[in-house]
Amino acid sequence: MIRFFNANIPLSRPAGVILALTLLLSACAPAAASLPVSTASSIPSPTPEPAFAASHTPSPVPTYTPTPAPAFIATPSASPLPLNFIKGPLLLPAAAPDRMRMVWEWEDPAAFTITWRSRSGEPAQTSSFNVLEQPDRLVTFDFHGLQPGKVYDYTIQTRTAWFTGSFRSAPPPEADTLRFFAYGDSRSQMAEHDRVAAGMLAQIDKDPAWQSLLLHNGDFAQYGDMAESWQTEFFGDQLPRLRRLLAGMPILPAIGNHDGNGSLFLRYFPLPWQNSRYGSFDYGPAHFVVLDQYVPCQPGSSQYRWLEEDLSAAKRPWKIIMLHEPGWSAGGGHGNNRAAQELDDLFQRQGVAVVLAGHNHYYARAEVNGILHLTLGTGGAPLYTPRPSMPHVQFVYKGYGFGMFEIRGDRLYGEFLTVDGQAADRFEFQRPQ
Ligand SMILES: [Fe+2]
Repeated sequence: MIRFFNANIPLSRPAGVILALTLLLSACAPAAASLPVSTASSIPSPTPEPAFAASHTPSPVPTYTPTPAPAFIATPSASPLPLNFIKGPLLLPAAAPDRMRMVWEWEDPAAFTITWRSRSGEPAQTSSFNVLEQPDRLVTFDFHGLQPGKVYDYTIQTRTAWFTGSFRSAPPPEADTLRFFAYGDSRSQMAEHDRVAAGMLAQIDKDPAWQSLLLHNGDFAQYGDMAESWQTEFFGDQLPRLRRLLAGMPILPAIGNHDGNGSLFLRYFPLPWQNSRYGSFDYGPAHFVVLDQYVPCQPGSSQYRWLEEDLSAAKRPWKIIMLHEPGWSAGGGHGNNRAAQELDDLFQRQGVAVVLAGHNHYYARAEVNGILHLTLGTGGAPLYTPRPSMPHVQFVYKGYGFGMFEIRGDRLYGEFLTVDGQAADRFEFQRPQ
């Protein structure tokens, strides 16, 4: 059941100031180990820092009082250089809730030291490794030993330079609240995409609790089989706000028709279910399922059988589907996807609450048999004109932006925000019981 609001949306946005703890940075990484090794160590007193501090150009060198340093810390250089990543760092959900995955690409031979520490004061942890030992110099690293629902500051450092960022670890299984952003179809127009990312950063700056999870419903690059297209449209320097966002919250991607044969999609997004492009994971009160519409998913297919088993085994109260081509949308660009509609019976039987999609480059909200269907193809691709008269459609908006959602108990509070921070749509949705 859905309700709409014309007045203040009931999203909780507790005011609060979270002071980040700046990790002590140094200018020397030790010789690399062949595999990441975790050690606990103590870090000198932190210096307050803005809550969401990922940046590719480190701000002025933190000041701190020298104290006897752990082995991996040496005297800092006078003028550290920024780390020049080719791609990333980009955060992804990991296979276990006490982990968070990070990916980046680096050009030169280098030994890295990764340090991370929660803001609630637990000892820092570190890992060291050599980038030459990573295939194709695309580094995949798992932060590990994380406690649920906490903000962690991290530092990636080489002998001469470093990068700092932060993320929030996965919520505990018993959590009954969760916030997340969702959008898709960010290909082709980098300036528009970066404005969408800036809109999300602005929400996090207003309320750091929004630094949580980012869902992307596919079409990352115009030519998804070409590395150059990904580099320009998703990883490149023309998207500074997006790069900051991706370094600060995990992204959960679904594959779109523009993402080609999927080989680069799988390379850049090494998800826990890496050998296929569909899978699922639990995050607080939600069970997220990512579907691949470019292999068969209809009844009788292996993906369908997997989906049926997965949904029936899921224990979290909110079952949320991500796919690219919507079954229920507002036309204009593409018609409703019949194969997606063939999943409706299964979704209804298994208590799916929400289906998130893209492909049509606008925002549309529909409800079919008590299931909320959102089209969020608003990440930067050229806009289409929605048709509000399409079946089951309740609201449409033509413009760039993103969805922001808060689960609280059996309710989902949703907004669609434009790049200027205006709420084009607000709703409250009660999940099927
Ligand atoms: Fe598409």
